[in-house]
Amino acid sequence: MAFSVGLTRFIISTNPDTAKEILNSSAFADRPVKESAYELLFHRAMGFAPFGEYWRNLRRISATHLFSPRSITASGQFRLSIGAKMVDQINSLIQKNGVVEVRKVLHFGSLNNVMKMVFGRTYEFGEGGDYDWCEVEELVRDGYDLLGVFNWSDHFPLLGWLDLQGVRKRCRKLVARVDVFVGKIILEHRMKSVVENKTVDEGDFVDILLNLEKENKLQHSDMVAVLWEMVFRGTDTVAILLEWILARMVLHPKIQSKVHAEIDSVVGLDRTVTDVDIPNLPYLRAVVKETLRMHPPGPLLSWARLAIHDTQIGDHFIPAGTTAMVNMWGITHDHEIWSDPQEFKPERFLEEDAPNIMGSDLRLAPFGAGRRVCPGKAMGLATVELWLAMLLQNFEWVPSDDSGVDLSECLKLSLEMKSSLLSKAIARPVCFSFKN
Ligand code: HEM
Repeated sequence: MAFSVGLTRFIISTNPDTAKEILNSSAFADRPVKESAYELLFHRAMGFAPFGEYWRNLRRISATHLFSPRSITASGQFRLSIGAKMVDQINSLIQKNGVVEVRKVLHFGSLNNVMKMVFGRTYEFGEGGDYDWCEVEELVRDGYDLLGVFNWSDHFPLLGWLDLQGVRKRCRKLVARVDVFVGKIILEHRMKSVVENKTVDEGDFVDILLNLEKENKLQHSDMVAVLWEMVFRGTDTVAILLEWILARMVLHPKIQSKVHAEIDSVVGLDRTVTDVDIPNLPYLRAVVKETLRMHPPGPLLSWARLAIHDTQIGDHFIPAGTTAMVNMWGITHDHEIWSDPQEFKPERFLEEDAPNIMGSDLRLAPFGAGRRVCPGKAMGLATVELWLAMLLQNFEWVPSDDSGVDLSECLKLSLEMKSSLLSKAIARPVCFSFKN
């Protein structure tokens, strides 16, 4: 499909073959930079940086130090301890209120996880939280809102200087706050590294960026943008996906029982599930994939691509400057591609010809594909799978009342549940406790 909004030309693909051609094409290795992304300095971070040496360098650094299999294994203990805190928090919320609004708990866990990975900071669950926590939550939420808003100035440049929706003004205010917040953390790291003389492998992402060799060194403002983007991208994707999965568990008790049975037979109830158990839980992993199919967090792979030069897709000529999107939601709900696409059937992912979801098969590519495929995909999946296993080992999830589960969708930067999931969580008879 092709159309224009103001001066912006769009093409949208709902066909896996064309989608693959677009995402894998070097012509589409750039992203259109919206005014909000530019104002938030994200053109200097990985996700919006133009295709070139600077972007390639950021991908290389993060692939080596943040997202490598070794880093994912090394962060397993911390993921587990956050999962344990979420379990405790859910237990106390259930005792207090009888029901739990999981979104808040998941968001806390997810943000905490990324804050530790990127900045080396940890926070405790608590009523209201401390000042630092409130600030970081607000900064993430504001950035999320600003990037998600449809801004007319992006397509009608003459409206740009009027800033009718106030996007530019809000972005500038936010950037100043982010700069103070992240700048303070960078300064603390600089001072600490002088005192402690840590090796790169012992540190967080700030340490890694500070220790880069001369030719790769980032300027202070670039570093703030890169660090902030990681926090921003790693938080909501994971929390939103887990909320959808739990909603599906509440809605499909038979499928939930099957996951319980799998966990009980592979892990049992005497010890907590950990990262090493996950490869032995194929049904649980199929549940994650089926949820990604039914509710792809980026239904239009929200991060669009931009044609750097004139190109050809199939028989169609695509001029430079065209914005290309993939309608992943359309593909994953297409009768020609999936049998009973409206039905939640994790079993389909146990079959031999089930697609690999990491970007090689566009029937389901929730992390995108090609050069700009999500670099955090393995880390994101490891987090979702472990926390889901923990939340299901410890609880049975049931509706909070007779009204069931509202699966209405709301498209912001990601595809979220319109109404936050409210559920009861019945403690399962596990015979271990966490030492947080
Ligand atoms: C369930 C979890 C996640 C989902 C569904 C997801 C999805 C996506 C998608 C669809 C893209 C665009 C890919 C493309 O254009 O082909 C993307 C890009 C990106 N994601 Fe993720 N993501 C997840 C987790 C994460 C995590 C945990 C991080 C980091 C902490 C992260 C960091 C990024 C970055 C930096 C990019 C931009 C890459 C570039 O343009 O070079 N993501 N993600």
